[in-house]
Amino acid sequence: MMDLINRVLNFIMPPASLVMLTLAWPTLTFINTCEWLYNTYFNSHQDMENKVVLITGASSGIGEQIAYQYAKRGANLVLVARRENRLRGISENARRLGAPHVLVMAADVVKEDDCRRFINETINYYGRVDHLVNTASLGHTFYFEEATDSNVFPILMDINFWGNVYPTYVALPYLRESNGRIVVNASVENWLPLPRMSLYAAAKSALINFYETLRFEVKDDVGITLATHGWIGTEMTRGKFMVEEGAEMQWKEEREVHVSGGPMEEFAKLIVSGACRGDPYVKYPSWYDIFFLYRIFAPKVLYWTFQFLLTNGGARRTSFIGTGRPLLLEGSPPRRHVGSSVSSQAFQQQKIE
Ligand SMILES: NC(=O)c1ccc[n+]([C@@H]2O[C@H](COP(=O)([O-])OP(=O)(O)OC[C@H]3O[C@@H](n4cnc5c(N)ncnc54)[C@H](OP(=O)(O)O)[C@@H]3O)[C@@H](O)[C@H]2O)c1
Repeated sequence: MMDLINRVLNFIMPPASLVMLTLAWPTLTFINTCEWLYNTYFNSHQDMENKVVLITGASSGIGEQIAYQYAKRGANLVLVARRENRLRGISENARRLGAPHVLVMAADVVKEDDCRRFINETINYYGRVDHLVNTASLGHTFYFEEATDSNVFPILMDINFWGNVYPTYVALPYLRESNGRIVVNASVENWLPLPRMSLYAAAKSALINFYETLRFEVKDDVGITLATHGWIGTEMTRGKFMVEEGAEMQWKEEREVHVSGGPMEEFAKLIVSGACRGDPYVKYPSWYDIFFLYRIFAPKVLYWTFQFLLTNGGARRTSFIGTGRPLLLEGSPPRRHVGSSVSSQAFQQQKIE
């Protein structure tokens, strides 16, 4: 019986829903536009002056730029990452831009104890936390089959998923007290999975589902802003990707490149103004949403596109994401179907180069 009902619904629901959505779309767009206009021009943004904002992953990229945007709004900051020396420089810049106080804490967001420490120290020092901004993350660019060292899998999941969950878990009671907000940096990878980023995409999808569920649980006590975006010039897009037994694969000369301005600053501005306005989502660029429709209604188009882009063997080894670095060393054996050419050793050799 159930089988029959499902068969009938399989047949009826997709076209019926499409018709309903087509009819409802103009009304929904109108309501969204009115809401946006009201929030932008009449509903004053949350005043961040003397509020407390804790940013994880603040030592580079989007996290750093977000710190500057909050600083310009007069917020007190707590900057968290593992490279304390970089945080110190960023802290000075933030103070110059208007942050009254800035705390710098070297911590690993994958360790719950570290998260407890930086949240407790924040509460001891400021007595409150208003916004928790999670930007700590690590990407990768290798085909799943190419990995021989499965130790890297949990590391990628740890940083990209648990590295958001732990700080959130520890900060949540304080965020409830301040009627605060969590800002999460997800990615379009959530609905547009790109080859060579399987684990990163999986972690980001898990992140979205986690926070969408949490949104229901915390109701209006704590706001959640989910930011999704495409590629933006940061350390992440300049070589800081791989992991080798727990340590990031770094191409030093690339990692230390100072990247500023452009889309990254623009996006940080969008995130912070979206968060202060209470927006549930911030998207950049928003046309990427269209891929979501492809994913649902025409997944084959995405599949064919990637197939087309990847048919050339050379292209398979060239990073998608702007490092311009081949994954394998020059002269390394051709990629085998089973067994990996991306072994710990290959990582190590690249690291030394
Ligand atoms: N860049 C893009 O194009 C892009 C696109 C889509 C989504 N995103 C998302 O946007 C966010 C920011 O990305 P980004 O490009 O700015 O990356 P990024 O420049 O590589 O910065 C990542 C930050 O995370 C910190 N971090 C990494 N592991 C950590 C750990 N275990 N504990 C504490 N801190 C850790 C790093 O600092 P330390 O090394 O000093 O710890 C660094 O400050 C990420 O969530 C990313 O997934 C970025």
